[in-house]
Amino acid sequence: MGSASVQLLGDLMVDIVCEVGTLEALSHARGSDLPSRTTLSPGGSAANTATWLARSGNTVYLVGAVGNDPLGDFLVNSIGSSGVHMLVQRVPGELTGVCLILNERDGQRTMIPSAGANAAFVNSQPLDQLASPDITHLHVSAYMLFHEVSGISALNYMETARRVGATISLDPSSSALLSTNRTRLLAALALSDLLLANADEALEITRLLHVDGEACQDIDLELISSALNPSSPTVVVTDGAAPVRALGSSLHNFTIPVTKIDAIRSTTGAGDAFNAGYLNAWLEGGDIPASIAAGTILAARVLGEVGATTLTSDSVPQ
Ligand SMILES: Nc1ncnc2c1ncn2[C@@H]1O[C@H](COP(=O)(O)OP(=O)(O)OP(=O)(O)O)[C@@H](O)[C@H]1O
Ligand SMILES: [Mg+2]
Repeated sequence: MGSASVQLLGDLMVDIVCEVGTLEALSHARGSDLPSRTTLSPGGSAANTATWLARSGNTVYLVGAVGNDPLGDFLVNSIGSSGVHMLVQRVPGELTGVCLILNERDGQRTMIPSAGANAAFVNSQPLDQLASPDITHLHVSAYMLFHEVSGISALNYMETARRVGATISLDPSSSALLSTNRTRLLAALALSDLLLANADEALEITRLLHVDGEACQDIDLELISSALNPSSPTVVVTDGAAPVRALGSSLHNFTIPVTKIDAIRSTTGAGDAFNAGYLNAWLEGGDIPASIAAGTILAARVLGEVGATTLTSDSVPQ
């Protein structure tokens, strides 16, 4: 059971999950109807990780922005009901972020996000909260960095976190959006102690850092590590069902296998749950291998559900 005090900075979204069978079936229905089971659930990378961390018993603050609309109310109430302290701005004139997720029968998902109010996040009152001495860690989902206004605010927020002595972890969020946001990404990496990336993101970051750029075919953990804050840099790279790789100051190029899952309902939120499991163990003093193992256990639970934080009776992590 966790007991840390953590802040999360990043995106809050309403996930509209449509179970479409296959994308091929969807394209056959073009111009007509494809009846599907559709669910509405709270989402967003930072919000998902916050929810799982709070359910594990940590004191969790979620910092971000939603619209001044009913979907914003839905997110504030539903995520708050998991015990997350909501330091969330209501942005007038912006809609709450929404992500349409097309979920296929094999668990693969295609996301169509609209950031809405997330992109308009500005630093304000939560900074006071950050200055509170019992906040020891800030986790950032990089979606926040990919927009002009929220990007500048997020970097500012991370600088404040370092000033008050908090450690910082970063999830790069999307390989496709990293090169166009290179400057802010590099600044965020330099402020972070821990990078929790998937393999596509780690390869893209390697390319952005490497002299040969695009020609680079392999993830370079050492190179990525050199871009992090030098105090105690750790890089952890997940790769779906493939082993998780890590590099830390006391650990060189370590891999840990992932348990094979037969019945995957949706991969949505697996990475966010991995982050929560990892952070929960790490903030309790766990070493890197133990924290990775905890991350894979929580991710496996999410793979069996359609929603990113759907809770069945046996899925509350301890
Ligand atoms: N097909 C799978 N089989 C088994 N475990 C999986 C599978 N997909 C994901 N996982 C688990 O979830 C973890 C994170 O998955 P992945 O590397 O796909 O993250 P991600 O791409 O960041 O996910 P997200 O789309 O949620 O951001 C993996 O390390 C593993 O523990
Ligand atoms: Mg991810």
